Amino acid sequence: MLTSVVLAALAAGAAQALPSPPASTPLTKLELHKRYVDERFPYKGPAVPVGDWLDQTPQGNGKGYQRLYKDPAVLPAPNVSVLSIKNNINVISTSLLPGGINVHFQTPFGIGADPVVHWGYSEGELSNNATGNTTTYDRTPPCSMMLATQCSQFFHNVAIPNIKPGSTVYYQIPGGNGTRPSDVLTVKTAPAPGQDGEFEALLVNDFGYTNAHGTHQYMLEHAQNGAAFAWHGGDISCAYEGILACEPDWDVCVDGVNTTLPGSAPVPEEYLSPLPAGEPANQGGPLGGDISQVYESNWDLWQQWMSQISKLIPYQTTPGNHEAACAEFDGSNHELTAMLVHNDTSFNATSPTANLTYYACPPSQRNFTAYNHRFFMNGEATGGRGNHWGSFKWGLATFISFSGETDFYQSPEDSFLDVTKGNASILPNETATFATNSGPFGELYGNYTDNMNYEQVRWIKNELAKVNRTETPWVFAMSHRPMYSSEVSSYQKHMRNAFQQILIDGGVDAYFSGHIHWYERMWPLTVNGTVDSSAIKSNHTYVASKNSLIHLIEGNAGNVESHSTLGNAPLLNTTAVLDQDNYGFGSLRIHNRTTATYTFIKGSDGSAGDYVTIVKPSQDSQGSQGSQNSQGSNGKGSQKSQN
Ligand SMILES: *[C@@H]1O[C@H](CO)[C@@H](O)[C@H](O)[C@H]1NC(C)=O
Ligand SMILES: *[C@@H]1O[C@H](CO)[C@@H](O)[C@H](O)[C@H]1NC(C)=O
Ligand SMILES: *[C@@H]1O[C@H](CO)[C@@H](O)[C@H](O)[C@H]1NC(C)=O
Ligand SMILES: *[C@@H]1O[C@H](CO)[C@@H](O)[C@H](O)[C@H]1NC(C)=O
Ligand SMILES: *[C@@H]1O[C@H](CO)[C@@H](O)[C@H](O)[C@H]1NC(C)=O
Ligand SMILES: *[C@@H]1O[C@H](CO)[C@@H](O)[C@H](O)[C@H]1NC(C)=O
Ligand SMILES: *[C@@H]1O[C@H](CO)[C@@H](O)[C@H](O)[C@H]1NC(C)=O
Ligand SMILES: *[C@@H]1O[C@H](CO)[C@@H](O)[C@H](O)[C@H]1NC(C)=O
Ligand SMILES: *[C@@H]1O[C@H](CO)[C@@H](O)[C@H](O)[C@H]1NC(C)=O
Ligand SMILES: *[C@@H]1O[C@H](CO)[C@@H](O)[C@H](O)[C@H]1NC(C)=O
Ligand SMILES: *[C@@H]1O[C@H](CO)[C@@H](O)[C@H](O)[C@H]1NC(C)=O
Ligand SMILES: *[C@@H]1O[C@H](CO)[C@@H](O)[C@H](O)[C@H]1NC(C)=O
Repeated sequence: MLTSVVLAALAAGAAQALPSPPASTPLTKLELHKRYVDERFPYKGPAVPVGDWLDQTPQGNGKGYQRLYKDPAVLPAPNVSVLSIKNNINVISTSLLPGGINVHFQTPFGIGADPVVHWGYSEGELSNNATGNTTTYDRTPPCSMMLATQCSQFFHNVAIPNIKPGSTVYYQIPGGNGTRPSDVLTVKTAPAPGQDGEFEALLVNDFGYTNAHGTHQYMLEHAQNGAAFAWHGGDISCAYEGILACEPDWDVCVDGVNTTLPGSAPVPEEYLSPLPAGEPANQGGPLGGDISQVYESNWDLWQQWMSQISKLIPYQTTPGNHEAACAEFDGSNHELTAMLVHNDTSFNATSPTANLTYYACPPSQRNFTAYNHRFFMNGEATGGRGNHWGSFKWGLATFISFSGETDFYQSPEDSFLDVTKGNASILPNETATFATNSGPFGELYGNYTDNMNYEQVRWIKNELAKVNRTETPWVFAMSHRPMYSSEVSSYQKHMRNAFQQILIDGGVDAYFSGHIHWYERMWPLTVNGTVDSSAIKSNHTYVASKNSLIHLIEGNAGNVESHSTLGNAPLLNTTAVLDQDNYGFGSLRIHNRTTATYTFIKGSDGSAGDYVTIVKPSQDSQGSQGSQNSQGSNGKGSQKSQN
């Protein structure tokens, strides 16, 4: 252990990793944002970089190029043209606050005052007003260049505490500065922790537009049929991947459901042809839509699409790799370097080398900036950090959301401290940085190589220790990154090093992730990666054992990258079920104190593609197997709680 003096010095050093404005200076919201993005080296690319659409008229630009249009959360008044709208509530989402609810909404322009939400317990009596805060960032292109009903630049967060548990809340967002008020909407708050009663959570990852229509359709249907909340483990909209528009003869397109892209993977041939005459460069393929070319518009429209779900049930998120920056890697001819670093926006510009440094993306597209503004997870309410880590409870279960992207040793998104090998007194030179350099979002309390020095890791451990298992016998965790898969990758080892022992010691019943674009159900795995056969009752029944962890990958909501495929790699014996063909999401049903079921719902028809029932050990010991002897000491309490 380091002495506290060294710890304090290191912590202070970490806090100074980026230059920040003097504390005495009052900061505008834009300045506040810039504090978290390093601008020591200039951004050299085009003002509007990654092909965001300058012309967003719903009918296209008049040159036969159809634009994607998504209804805003608040629809224009009847007979009002979207072209005449000056400000609008385009996105509405809710999330869980202990003992309350968070409401988030987005507009293209400011609303002239602090955001307010009117709410109450019946439609006719919205007698309470809750007030919150607005944030903004200098997105590119700004909404002044866009259609007002298709763009978000002001992000409004209203926390409503002290709501009766398990109640339906009626709420209305008046907005301001010319917006139309929302309808009176409803959202259900969580029952008190420990409250018995079955509920369903919807789990999803890697959710773009292309191929994702079925996922959206059936998630909405489940939400309308009473699902408690959605839990999205990252790659939320798959910003920078783009949108593939429909042609009549394509099966795969915006909002479509299919398993492969047209043309040969990964980039459809259609995208290699020049744009039609008159079409601005960087707007993607000739047939409409974009690939690796959009950023803010992708967020805008995806969030509008999802508002149907997120205004109705709490929509919980954790970050994924797509949230980090405008780009993650370059094309084979370094097209992104050509555009972003050499400012060459011609259709097929290339560069001899890839130079996607941290400074290659515009400042507003670095370090999770869009993600930090576009959601309101309010992690602080449970001692966590913003949209990066936090916990929430619903009835019999505790849910731990955390970041598999930053804030642990060898995280996939490196911080500058990783780049300088832990030396907090220097900042890396330009060429030593990379586009996705991000975080840390929490404190670092010592040597960066020790996972236990990261605030996030400590928080998870403490949060698990705090769980009262009589109250919430179930504990689930999710981040974007898997710890195991038949698609083996080095980040999985880093994930295991940081989190596996903590989750097992903390009694987590199942760990969910995505990132790999398929559905994969592991056998229960011990901390050393071996199959815990004592925790397997049958092909479809696992025991939530203290000695192992159940891992599920649900990375197949659908996006332009299509599916991951195993190819010629072997299916490892740690994998119980692998589905490389379907899109969809997970339905986690907590039935009671001892039984829960995870079902993979197929986007093609809403049917079950796989399921696994998870039972508590005490129930297992009533069955034929006597393998859960170690549970004997608490067996009595658990048996009692079954009644
Ligand atoms: C990039 O190119 C555009 C158009 O040629 C030019 O207006 C702009 O100033 C250039 N940006 C930089 C940073 O050089
Ligand atoms: C109100 O909206 C207009 C655009 O319609 C915008 O230019 C203006 O800045 C907004 N006012 C405030 C106070 O945000
Ligand atoms: C809530 O706001 C509305 C209008 O914005 C106002 O009429 C009402 O008096 C407010 N209610 C409370 C309890 O402040
Ligand atoms: C946000 O709004 C609340 C309620 O108006 C206020 O108490 C709080 O200080 C604000 N927080 C920030 C960070 O501005
Ligand atoms: C996917 O595309 C193939 C080939 O075009 C087609 O036969 C199939 O029906 C499509 N599947 C779905 C689910 O749309
Ligand atoms: C770029 O496209 C133009 C016009 O289609 C073509 O003449 C040129 O050879 C292409 N350059 C590269 C590097 O592909
Ligand atoms: C560009 O990348 C090359 C090769 O990775 C590297 O040697 C060079 O220093 C980089 N240049 C800049 C300006 O980043
Ligand atoms: C940055 O480059 C300078 C020389 O150009 C070098 O002296 C310095 O050590 C470098 N800093 C880092 C952090 O690599
Ligand atoms: C990212 O933002 C966080 C604060 O939110 C800051 O601590 C960190 O230094 C930033 N990292 C980078 C690489 O910009
Ligand atoms: C941090 O820990 C690593 C590995 O344990 C060690 O090699 C390194 O010297 C340590 N750094 C500091 C500053 O103590
Ligand atoms: C745990 O929860 C149960 C049921 O709500 C309660 O009776 C008990 O006091 C709690 N235990 C602790 C240590 O808070
Ligand atoms: C793996 O862990 C299990 C349970 O902790 C243990 O029984 C087994 O011996 C371990 N195997 C190896 C190869 O370490």
